[in-house]
Amino acid sequence: MLAHCLQSQIADHQPHGGVVPEIAARAHLHLLPQLIKQALKQANISWNDITAVAATAGPGLIGGILVGAMTAKAIAAALQKPFIAVNHLEGHALTVRLTHAINFPYLLLLVSGGHTQFLIVHDVGHYEYLGGTIDDAVGEAFDKIAQLLSLDYPGGPLVEKIALKGDPQRFSFPRPLMGKPDCNFSFSGLKTAVRLQIEKLPALTEQDKADIAASFQAAIADCLLDRTARAFALAPHIDQFVIAGGVAANAYLRERLQKLCQEHRKDFIMPPMALCTDNAAMIAWTGFERLQKGLTDDLSFSPRPRWPLKELSTS
Ligand code: KG4
Ligand code: ZN
Repeated sequence: MLAHCLQSQIADHQPHGGVVPEIAARAHLHLLPQLIKQALKQANISWNDITAVAATAGPGLIGGILVGAMTAKAIAAALQKPFIAVNHLEGHALTVRLTHAINFPYLLLLVSGGHTQFLIVHDVGHYEYLGGTIDDAVGEAFDKIAQLLSLDYPGGPLVEKIALKGDPQRFSFPRPLMGKPDCNFSFSGLKTAVRLQIEKLPALTEQDKADIAASFQAAIADCLLDRTARAFALAPHIDQFVIAGGVAANAYLRERLQKLCQEHRKDFIMPPMALCTDNAAMIAWTGFERLQKGLTDDLSFSPRPRWPLKELSTS
């Protein structure tokens, strides 16, 4: 990796308690030119050293994606180099191969703000879905609980932080779908239970908030562990387990998953923290993996707000 630049727009969205699509698109337009210049400088390369250009082309909020994909297409057209349209989820799925010598296949738990799913990663472009959430994503649940506790956006890291001072046993929140034979998740009932509990408390003290955060996080961890053990049972021949996505940055969840892997004799592997939350390196790496297989895209590729992994190009 020659350069890794990130321009957060969290401050622009924070007053609204979540990402505002229009603000996100405009911020991309505004920030991208200077970010590209910064990356070239950091890498100490010039435009002519570029072999190919990759950009996220979906799934997600389409305004920002359009700005990124159009910029990448323009650079590729001007330099007459290949363009690679990268699926955001494939980016999360392959990043671990940028930092670790890990071969296919591996079992992946992708836990982000928009997705919660188990995939067997067989190869670039080849993913087998084992199970996932039937309602909210786990990151979304963290963000909603944070909102109920009047914490800033994005809430995941703040919930984790205050949970350190809390009692995980004070509140007994539900563990939806635990014990079920598949490896699906559901978090909406848990979210409602937390809301009802908050409404029952006369006034929310700092200690109450910490106890709610810790009890909520413990319930999430129990669900993740139970469902992961099920995924192990469904894919017994796979001995490498990878977690990725923003929620993988949570140290408490990570430690518990790591212990589970020790018990089940699975290798536990995760990308470094900075590559777990959304970043450009994961998209560049996926572009590189695709390029090596000759998988490039036409400049006519239309960015996709919805783009399931099973619809990826593999030839
Ligand atoms: O992968 P990501 O950066 O963006 C998406 O593709 O969604 O994930 C962002 C999500 C947010 O919901 C955020 O609250 C959550 O990851 N997150 C965390 C932590 N850090 C980020 N959740 C729990 N604990 C954390 N430390
Ligand atoms: Zn993501």
